[in-house]
Amino acid sequence: MASTPETLERAKAEVPSHIPADRIREIDMYALEGIEQGYHEAWKKVQGPDTPGMIWTPFTGGHWIATKGELIREIYSDPERFSSEVIFLPKEAGEKYQMVPTRMDPPEHTPYRKALDKGLSLAQMRKVEDKVRDVAVELIDGFLARGECDFSAEYAAIFPVRVFMALADLPLSDVPILTGFARQMTRPEGQNPEEMAADLEAGNDGFFAYVEPIIHARRGGSGDDLITIMVNAEINGEPISHDKAVGLVALLLLGGLDTVVNFLSFFMIHLGRHPEKVAELRDDPLVLVRGVEELFRRFPVVSEARMVAKDQVFDGVELKHGDMVLIPTALHGLDDSQNPDPLELNFARRAMSHTTFGGGPHRCAGMHLARLEVTITLQEWLKRIPEFRLRQDSPPVYHSGIIAAVENVPLVWRV
Ligand code: HEM
Repeated sequence: MASTPETLERAKAEVPSHIPADRIREIDMYALEGIEQGYHEAWKKVQGPDTPGMIWTPFTGGHWIATKGELIREIYSDPERFSSEVIFLPKEAGEKYQMVPTRMDPPEHTPYRKALDKGLSLAQMRKVEDKVRDVAVELIDGFLARGECDFSAEYAAIFPVRVFMALADLPLSDVPILTGFARQMTRPEGQNPEEMAADLEAGNDGFFAYVEPIIHARRGGSGDDLITIMVNAEINGEPISHDKAVGLVALLLLGGLDTVVNFLSFFMIHLGRHPEKVAELRDDPLVLVRGVEELFRRFPVVSEARMVAKDQVFDGVELKHGDMVLIPTALHGLDDSQNPDPLELNFARRAMSHTTFGGGPHRCAGMHLARLEVTITLQEWLKRIPEFRLRQDSPPVYHSGIIAAVENVPLVWRV
């Protein structure tokens, strides 16, 4: 059997002298204990009533983990104390990650962010709504009459990717190579931080080599696709440099390819087990539109990190400059102190708190697109498949990492 992050015996780091013994827990973010039962359920187990707000694990090069929603929000919001200089773990791998502008702190980050916001604004997304709907309808109609599908392979893995390739004006035939690079970057394989860094670097280099000629070709162009908008952006009054344009476009590919893909599968597994929730969404179009936010709260998929920017005391522990802190967004949306009865998917929930899209200056630039894709998927799916179930005989397979993943989501419905 090929070794996977789940089957490898991973190297553990030495415990530095400033880590108090009572904060140490053995948690491997790439192979969470109990993940067979579900990715979110596995993270939730870390958050027991006696778990301190900040814990430290020797896995993945040794790092802190913020386990409470309020701390995760605070870390996202404060780049002066928690820098984006390195955002992926292990740190060795994060140092190889070169995408723009996720590793920049303000003020350097700000003009790049303006360019991203221009390309991915709500107004821009409204223009492409019909295109997105056409892709959803075509895919669902393709398997509707069969009465079954593997939702992850036949819809989730294709829909956001097709939408994104259309927005970026790229050929669909390039998708397999790009999804391979995305896997290397968000769930890098290896037995130790160095091997994982090499896998991540190969994915990063692959994206860069792919976008390089496309950027040359679209520089100065007048198209209204996402890449042409980005490569012709101005940064502080000057044309964006070639290197920065490569990093920016590669980030868009990564952001557009792996996140929505997995998020869709996570919530469809839940809906396939809870027909009463499907009925709530189906019976009231307003519940559906508002309910999308509750889905984002309940099924976060991103676990990135921040680097401690200066020595400080935080949540009663000493953090040293250069320490890494993992901020799993699942531990915010599923925190009881932020959202009562958090594992319950409750479309009537009024106030809710989550950082599924991050927070602070780097808050997800693609969230309008993500919301649109999820809303349209539910609308078009329920119009054609008003009732469906998750088949019991071949359970989904979950993977944890920087972006959580799930394979095998067998859904059935009456034709
Ligand atoms: C379920 C869907 C999605 C989730 C959960 C998600 C989550 C996130 C999170 C947590 C961040 C913060 C990163 C950080 O602070 O270091 C982020 C940033 C970003 N996302 Fe998304 N994302 C999603 C979909 C998308 C899509 C569809 C795009 C489209 C291209 C996208 C593009 C970006 C970009 C460009 C950034 C970087 C923003 C910056 O550094 O200023 N995301 N996303």
